Amino acid sequence: MAVLVTGGLGYIGSHTCVELMNAGIDIVVIDNLYNCKKSSYDRIKALTGRDFPFYKVDIRDAKGLQNVFDSEKIDSVIHFAGLKAVGESCEKPLEYFDNNVNGTLVLLDVMRKNGCKKIVFSSSATVYGMNNVSPLTEDMPVGGVTNPYGRTKYMIECIMKDLFASDNSWSICLLRYFNPIGAHKSGTMGEDPNGIPNNLMPYITQVAIGKRAELGVFGNDYDTPDGTGVRDYIHVVDLALGHVKAVEKIRKEDGLFIYNLGTGTGYSVLDVVKAFEKASGVKIPYSIKPRRPGDIATCYSDPSKALKELGWKAERGIEEMCEDSWRWQSKNPDGYPD
Ligand code: NAD
Ligand code: UD1
Repeated sequence: MAVLVTGGLGYIGSHTCVELMNAGIDIVVIDNLYNCKKSSYDRIKALTGRDFPFYKVDIRDAKGLQNVFDSEKIDSVIHFAGLKAVGESCEKPLEYFDNNVNGTLVLLDVMRKNGCKKIVFSSSATVYGMNNVSPLTEDMPVGGVTNPYGRTKYMIECIMKDLFASDNSWSICLLRYFNPIGAHKSGTMGEDPNGIPNNLMPYITQVAIGKRAELGVFGNDYDTPDGTGVRDYIHVVDLALGHVKAVEKIRKEDGLFIYNLGTGTGYSVLDVVKAFEKASGVKIPYSIKPRRPGDIATCYSDPSKALKELGWKAERGIEEMCEDSWRWQSKNPDGYPD
């Protein structure tokens, strides 16, 4: 039996496909190629030395999904497919609710019709909203999200909780990611944003490679040790390994499980700049800009529940995250080939 990986050619999905296959788990991948290149498929195959089925399917296309279930033996799903840019979600809320929320409803319905009731979902620390104090634990109240993207994650969590309440034979794992950065050690897979990066690490690597003149640091007057925002950066390979543990759990146990995937350590924007400069040997010019609306001062996880229940812990530190991000960017200045 195979795990269906939706959005499996994207940044986190591609790294997870590699670790799933390294763990001996069969996969089937679907992606509509909206935010990735098909060459990511070739890179996954080259790294693992294994072939696997890929279907260009949109999760909103029930017939297309049914065809995948008819053609493959699937017992569980890891659901990455979604749109993820906060700013864009404020400009195009309908597209975000359609793609993320409606897409998930279509996927869950097709799964149910095929007797497949096991799913791991890519949620986000954003569901903790603005008011909880770090370290964030899974039992804190969620909601109070400030943008449509975050609301799609919160709404999908609600949908999945209601689904489980209605039918306890589902096995659902909500994984709340903190800030994934880094890339595969080989330098052949990494994050490949379209246009101007929204997130810190891809912006820094594009400054380092000479594509952007300088980093704008969004605020230095937060209540943090150096005044810049503090986040829990996690290596994408550690995150991928968390999915291997999560899918192993839902395959053997029914239930609704929620885990933070983070390191438990916060770094400021300037900490990350310094760590990146050390790892790459490249100076990152920056200037202080106004705060970005919707940002909070500090956000980091308490990752102890995932350790206790999944036996998972992030192993890779900030130096390795920076080294691997830089290796990917410097070997692939223009990202994945077309
Ligand atoms: P990504 O954009 O690199 O990957 C998502 C993939 O899904 C892309 O390959 C895209 O083409 C595909 N996709 C989008 N809509 C689709 C649809 N309707 N049908 C089929 N495929 C579709 O993003 P990522 O960083 O790998 O994130 C994966 C998941 O994790 C997303 O759901 C994202 O919201 C969530 N997440 C990401 C972060 C982060 O910092 N990267 C943090 C928290 C949560
Ligand atoms: C952002 C999203 C969050 C999403 C996550 C992963 C917002 C408000 N939050 O989280 O919902 O789940 O990305 O996609 O957009 N920074 C700069 N300069 C930059 C970029 C970022 O100073 O050019 C700072 C930010 O102010 C923040 C830190 O770097 O303090 C990390 O920012 P980012 O990488 O965008 O992640 P989050 O804001 O934590």
